[in-house]
Amino acid sequence: MAPAEIAESELLLQTFERRFLAARVLRSFPWQSLEEKLKASSDSKLLLHLLQKPSGDAVTLRESTAIIAHGTTGLVTWDAALYLAEWAMQNPATFTHRTVLELGSGAGLTGLAICKACQPRAYIFSDGHSHVLEQLRQNIILNGFSLELDVTIEPEHPTVTVAQLDWDTGTGPQLSAFQPDVVIAADVLYCPDAILSLVGLLKRLSGCRKDQRPPDVYVASTIRNPETPQLFTAQLGQAGISWEAVPPHDRTLFAYEEHWEVVVLKLTL
Ligand SMILES: C[S@@+](CC[C@H](N)C(=O)[O-])C[C@H]1O[C@@H](n2cnc3c(N)ncnc32)[C@H](O)[C@@H]1O
Repeated sequence: MAPAEIAESELLLQTFERRFLAARVLRSFPWQSLEEKLKASSDSKLLLHLLQKPSGDAVTLRESTAIIAHGTTGLVTWDAALYLAEWAMQNPATFTHRTVLELGSGAGLTGLAICKACQPRAYIFSDGHSHVLEQLRQNIILNGFSLELDVTIEPEHPTVTVAQLDWDTGTGPQLSAFQPDVVIAADVLYCPDAILSLVGLLKRLSGCRKDQRPPDVYVASTIRNPETPQLFTAQLGQAGISWEAVPPHDRTLFAYEEHWEVVVLKLTL
């Protein structure tokens, strides 16, 4: 197939995928374009791609239709959350039998995917915004997890908790109560204030473990401009936190909205 044809086919596949994920009625799918493409193509690759989409456990989410609502960006899922979830599913050992603290969980996609696919021992969702926390609790329950503190329903299910954790006001004792082995965050570096608050919190987190072993930290960010990641890495340097970029992976599992690059940084506190 010529490059232009491949691009057209990919767009068509993406439209099918998005409509499927958004549970649109079947008649709204681009059947006519598919028929035309299939008639014009000499092989059945397009049909195979369409039929061989990955299947498995699903995450169900209630989300806002607006990207900013109630003064927060946390009521929708951002691409970095999808990217981090996809990375986690390819690297489950990072989370298996470990206690995970997520900062700025938003709608909960990454954490729910990790809880379903990576067998963490405990998962602490957190956010600073009360509307976000309310929706997050609903999404966790919607996906079959219990929110009762310290209760494990079945051995393979993690203990799931939700914490109100503001990066500016989260105290040492509050952070010590979590005892995380791994800390993750997706799309949390969107303005200088957020970066300063987050780095401050990471610094306080570094000494919070009883065994003095700092948690592994993974931060996924969409690169929308060069200044924001530069400010983040400069602040990390000032705080004495070293970092390395995690090798990129192909985005195949989800219907990503944006075409910006997404990177995951692994931090050493
Ligand atoms: C762009 S959203 C990302 C949500 C989710 N991680 C995702 O990628 O879909 C940023 C999230 O960080 C939270 N947040 C921003 N500043 C915060 C702060 N100072 N303390 C705690 N949470 C904060 C917001 O409430 C929001 O849920």
